Amino acid sequence: MKSVILPAYNRNIIRAMLGLKVEETEMPIPGENDIIIKTHAAPVNPSDIAFIQGVYNIVKPIPTVPGFEASGMVVNAGKNGSHLVGNKVSCFVQDDNSGTWSEFIIANIADVIELKDEMDMDQAACFTVNPFTAYAMFDIVLQRKSTAIIQNASGGQVANFIRRMADENGIKVIDIVRKEETASMLRSKGASYVIVETDEDFEEKLQDMCTKLQPTVAFDAVGGNLGGIMFNALSEDSELVVYGGLSGKGLSDLNVMDVIFDNKIVSGFNLMDWKSDIGKDEFERISLLLQDKFIAGDYVTEIGGTTSLENIVKGLRGYIADMSKGKLLVKP
Ligand SMILES: NC(=O)c1ccc[n+]([C@@H]2O[C@H](COP(=O)([O-])OP(=O)(O)OC[C@H]3O[C@@H](n4cnc5c(N)ncnc54)[C@H](OP(=O)(O)O)[C@@H]3O)[C@@H](O)[C@H]2O)c1
Repeated sequence: MKSVILPAYNRNIIRAMLGLKVEETEMPIPGENDIIIKTHAAPVNPSDIAFIQGVYNIVKPIPTVPGFEASGMVVNAGKNGSHLVGNKVSCFVQDDNSGTWSEFIIANIADVIELKDEMDMDQAACFTVNPFTAYAMFDIVLQRKSTAIIQNASGGQVANFIRRMADENGIKVIDIVRKEETASMLRSKGASYVIVETDEDFEEKLQDMCTKLQPTVAFDAVGGNLGGIMFNALSEDSELVVYGGLSGKGLSDLNVMDVIFDNKIVSGFNLMDWKSDIGKDEFERISLLLQDKFIAGDYVTEIGGTTSLENIVKGLRGYIADMSKGKLLVKP
């Protein structure tokens, strides 16, 4: 089978990408808890970019096959996964011997979601991570009874789902982006409170919107001083939830007095921890609920383009240049 191979990690993303090659690899043999998936599509996520740079929290022995998420059809299985053969699945795999930018994927049955027949397989490729992340984080908004939220990286797919869930619940969203064209795109889709972090009067605009809307939850995917600015703009009894570090910089410039005197907190969100905390049955319930939303067309992951395994470098360059366009799907 053909797979994309990462021969070496490199912090320089251009060099890391240029090192990628396509090679014939051994067809994996399933252990008793494994299945083999014929890949339909595998997305490129920011975590994949961090992975090939060697700066993600998963570091595998190299050479290795990148990619953590995918959709496809089960074509072979060990004895505990035989009931899945012939079924459509989404998977999220992080084991050393797995990687989704490949014609076939080996996955443990615990890392797989069985799909309803009506699920679109491109949407299914991006199903296991972002929709659940948004669902879980949005629950914090509901628990806190917040009537407004702030988020950054607002052109991204997690942010899109958060905005959709907020809309369903009558909750206002202050969206922060880093490019004017992303702001225009969001406004054209109906976002009402969009600001660009590089504008000279950015902090003033953010403060004005916060005074008006009183958000008590903020979602930070960027870090650096933007996370600090968002935290400081929140009123008392608020929470900044950090779920990504796209800037590669530590969270900075938080107002210490707010933490001490105003009952404001910073928390972190990690999907894997949430998944193990809620347990298998609750995860299954939420999975079915989210699948129904996708099937009805209420929730959609924007797809920005597709690439073959062979054109992976060109595809990655396009994704990195304009991540807000939507996910890049790797289709063997
Ligand atoms: N903690 C968890 O469990 C969890 C789960 C899922 C996702 N995540 C994280 O959530 C974040 C968003 O993921 P996604 O899949 O929604 O992303 P995505 O759809 O691929 O889009 C990324 C977005 O981030 C923006 N961006 C990239 N680098 C940025 C920077 N340095 N400063 C400001 N904005 C930047 C991009 O804007 P441009 O168009 O301007 O490039 C784009 O809008 C990632 O950090 C991801 O790792 C975390």
